[in-house]
Amino acid sequence: PRYWAVIPAAGAGRRFGGPVPKQYLAFAGRQVIDYSLAVFIDHPRIAGCVLALSPEDEWWRETAYAAHPAVQRVAGGAERSDSVAHALEALAERAAEDDWVLVHDAARPCLTRLDLDRLLEALRDEPVGALLAVPLHDTVKTAEDALGPRVEHTLPRQQLWRAYTPQAFRLGQLRQALLQCRTEGLAITDDASAIEQLGLRPLLLEGRADNIKITRPEDLPLARFFLEQQQE
Ligand code: C5P
Repeated sequence: PRYWAVIPAAGAGRRFGGPVPKQYLAFAGRQVIDYSLAVFIDHPRIAGCVLALSPEDEWWRETAYAAHPAVQRVAGGAERSDSVAHALEALAERAAEDDWVLVHDAARPCLTRLDLDRLLEALRDEPVGALLAVPLHDTVKTAEDALGPRVEHTLPRQQLWRAYTPQAFRLGQLRQALLQCRTEGLAITDDASAIEQLGLRPLLLEGRADNIKITRPEDLPLARFFLEQQQE
C-alpha cells in the first residue's frame, strides 16, 4: 500500500480568537501550517498530501507550500470530520482502498520525523490502524453540570491517553467509518473515534508529548519553545 497525508486546516480557530486562523500565525520564521506540512512533504514514503481549506480561506496562497505539486487542495466542511471526509473523497480518485491515510491537524507544527517514522513502522502488519498518543498524568474528572460543574466521577488514570495526530487508517475503512458516523448523527473529534464506532480497536502508539495542538494563545510560544528544543 501507499501512504498519504490528509491535513484538515479548515477551522476558524474560535477558541484561539483573532482575525487570522491559528494555522496561519507567524511561527518560527514561517507559519504554523508550513511546519505541519513539511514533515510529510519531505518524507520519501508519503505519496502526497490533501489539504482541506475553508472556502473563505484567504491565507493559504501566501504560504510556503501554496504552489507545491505534492499538495492537493479541497474545500473543508462545517466540522473537522467533514473536512477529513471531503479530503478522502478526493483521495479516493487516485488512491487504493487499502492505502494508508495519515490524518494530521494543521495546528500541530511540532510533529517530529522520528515520530512519523515510528508510526509508519507500526503500520507494518497492523490490521486496524494506529494513532500517536500520550499517557495522561493528571487525574481526570467527569462533570455533571446541571447545578454548575460538580464532579460526577474520577476516571482511572492508568487507562487514559491523550489522542494526538497523525492517526493512520485504511482509506476505504476510514471513509466508511466517517460516513457511518454522519448517517447516525454522531459528533466525533478525531478519526480513531469513527473507526471505534465500527467495533475496531486502533493501536495507541506513545509519541512525544510536545506534539501539541495549538488551541489557545498561550500554546503558540510553548510550541515555538518545543520546536527550538527539537532543533538543538
Ligand atoms: O478545532 P480543532 O482544534 O480540533 O481542529 C483541529 C484541526 O482540524 C485544525 O487543524 C483545524 O483547522 C481543522 N478543522 C477543519 N475543519 C473544521 C474544523 C477544524 O479542517 N470544520
